[in-house]
Amino acid sequence: MKNIIRTFATVVAVMSLVFAFTAPAFAKGDAVAGKDKAALCAGCHGDDGNSMSAEFPRLAGQYEAYIVKQIADFQKGRRLNNETMAGMAAMVASVQDAKDIGAYYNAQKMSKKPIAPVDKKLAAQGKKLFNEGLPRKGVYGCVNCHGKNGKGKSKSISAFPIIGGQHKDYLIKELKDFRAGTRANDPGGMMSDIAKKLGDKDIDAVAHYLSGL
Ligand code: HEC
Ligand code: HEC
Repeated sequence: MKNIIRTFATVVAVMSLVFAFTAPAFAKGDAVAGKDKAALCAGCHGDDGNSMSAEFPRLAGQYEAYIVKQIADFQKGRRLNNETMAGMAAMVASVQDAKDIGAYYNAQKMSKKPIAPVDKKLAAQGKKLFNEGLPRKGVYGCVNCHGKNGKGKSKSISAFPIIGGQHKDYLIKELKDFRAGTRANDPGGMMSDIAKKLGDKDIDAVAHYLSGL
C-alpha cells in the first residue's frame, strides 16, 4: 500500500511539473466569470456551493481541479453513479467553463454546520478509522491521502478531494458506490480498493465523523 501511494505521489509530482511547463497554454479558472456560469448549478448545489440536501454534495471550498475532473468524468461516462448529474455535466460547454465554475466554488467557504445530527460515539470511532485505518485489514488511514480533518493535502495534489465537512449521507453513498464498483473513476482504483475493505459500520462511523468537521 505504501508503495502504491509513493508511486502515485511520484506520478502526481511529474504530472504537476508537466502541467507547470505547459500551463501558459491554458487559461486559469476565473471565479468571477464562474459565478454566472454556476447559476445553472445553484438549484441543487446552492448559490455558494453549500447545498441544503445530502443528495447534492457540498462544492464550497473544493479544489478547482477536482471539480473539473468530476465534470469531465460525468461527461465522458467514466463516473456512472448519477444520471441527473451526468445530464447537468453535459450542459457545461467547455473546459474553460468547468474551470471557471470550479474556481468560483473553490473560492467559497464550506459551511461548518452539518445538516444532519452527528452521533458522538460513532464519530469517535470514525475518527480512529480516519487517522489510523484498519491495520488488520490492510486499510491505510484516510488522513494520508485526504489530509488532516479531511481538508485535503494541498492544491497541488488536488487528486485527493476535500471530504471533511461533506454531507454524511453523500459520503455514505459514495463509499458504498466505490465498494460496489458503481463509481470507478478513481485513479488506479486506489479509493475502491479501500472501500471494498470497509463494512457498513465503518462507513457509517467515518461519515458521521467527517460530516461534523
Ligand atoms: C438537478 C440537480 C443538480 C444540478 C442542477 C447540478 N448537479 Fe452536480 N450533482 C448532483 C448530484 C445528485 C450529485 C451527486 C452524484 C452522486 O450521487 O455521486 C452531483 C455531484 C456533482 C459533483 C461531484 C462532487 C464530488 O464531490 O465528487 C460535481 C463536481 C458537480 N455535481 C458539479 C455540478 C456543476 C458544475 C453543476 C452545474 C453545471 C451541477 N453540478 C449541477 C445534482 C446536480
Ligand atoms: C491512497 C489514497 C486514498 C486513501 C488512503 C483514501 N482515499 Fe478516499 N479518495 C482518494 C481519491 C484519489 C479520491 C478521488 C477519486 C476521483 O478522482 O474521483 C477519493 C475519493 C473519496 C471520496 C469521494 C469524495 C467526493 O467528494 O465524492 C470519499 C467519500 C472518500 N474518498 C473517503 C475516504 C475514506 C473514508 C478513506 C479512509 C477509510 C479514504 N477515502 C482513503 C484516495 C484515497
